[in-house]
Amino acid sequence: RKAVIKITTGSQALDELLGGGIETNAITEAFGEFRSGKTQLAHTLCVCTQLPTNMGGGNGKVAFIDTEGTFRPDRIVPIAERFGMDPGAVLDNIIYARAYTYEHQYNLLLGLAAKMSEEPFRLLIVDSIIALFRVDFTGRGELADRQQKLAQMLSRLIKIAEEFNVAVYMTNQVIADPGGGVFISDPKKPAGGHVLAHAATIRLMFRKGKGEQRVCKSESINCSSIFLNKTHIFQITPGGIAD
Ligand code: GTP
Ligand code: MG
Repeated sequence: RKAVIKITTGSQALDELLGGGIETNAITEAFGEFRSGKTQLAHTLCVCTQLPTNMGGGNGKVAFIDTEGTFRPDRIVPIAERFGMDPGAVLDNIIYARAYTYEHQYNLLLGLAAKMSEEPFRLLIVDSIIALFRVDFTGRGELADRQQKLAQMLSRLIKIAEEFNVAVYMTNQVIADPGGGVFISDPKKPAGGHVLAHAATIRLMFRKGKGEQRVCKSESINCSSIFLNKTHIFQITPGGIAD
């Protein structure tokens, strides 16, 4: 078995909560309300993964599957500079793809597996795992079908994580319950039901604090861990996630 690598999040508090950082050979899920920092952590991890291992990195390439169109290459620049890395070189090591349907998303994963067998990747980002399922499967009658397709997608992610010793970081939305004709979202309830809850090795809940402050809590972990239900505070800074 390949040795697990822990990749720093840019925040010592968050790393502590994770037992050192996000792990390869595992799936880390972050869910939470809009603007809670899920995508900002994704951008920070794009850079940190490329750091040498003695600096908390994974010394590897990054794959970014974007289902919401929120990846910003120009956001990578100040984050790379913060860590003393060349932004151009960092961007060159991020393989980016925008997915437009859940099938497209699945096929991108198949293509990535071929790439990962040739080059050393250490991180796969899926931001978000659920958005396209919500678009492609509407209506209650389609829920069982949706969950089955979601399970297939997740088992692919698990296979990639294990086969290539890659850290998978996937973001998730919160459920939106129709109430009185208005969609009211519950910031504490992740979407995706049991299928998604069982896939992640560790599930993080993000919420907004004061200003650029964010609060993260570790939840329902499918591994033995002493970090369950711990709460930590981090910041969103120009240089990415920090303390
Ligand atoms: P959704 O995808 O909408 O569910 O939200 P999210 O959890 O992905 O939120 P995201 O990570 O996009 O966080 C957005 C927040 O990050 C903004 O409200 C800002 O506070 C902060 N942010 C975004 N861009 C920048 C930037 O360039 N510099 C700094 N300092 N902060 C930024
Ligand atoms: Mg986002």
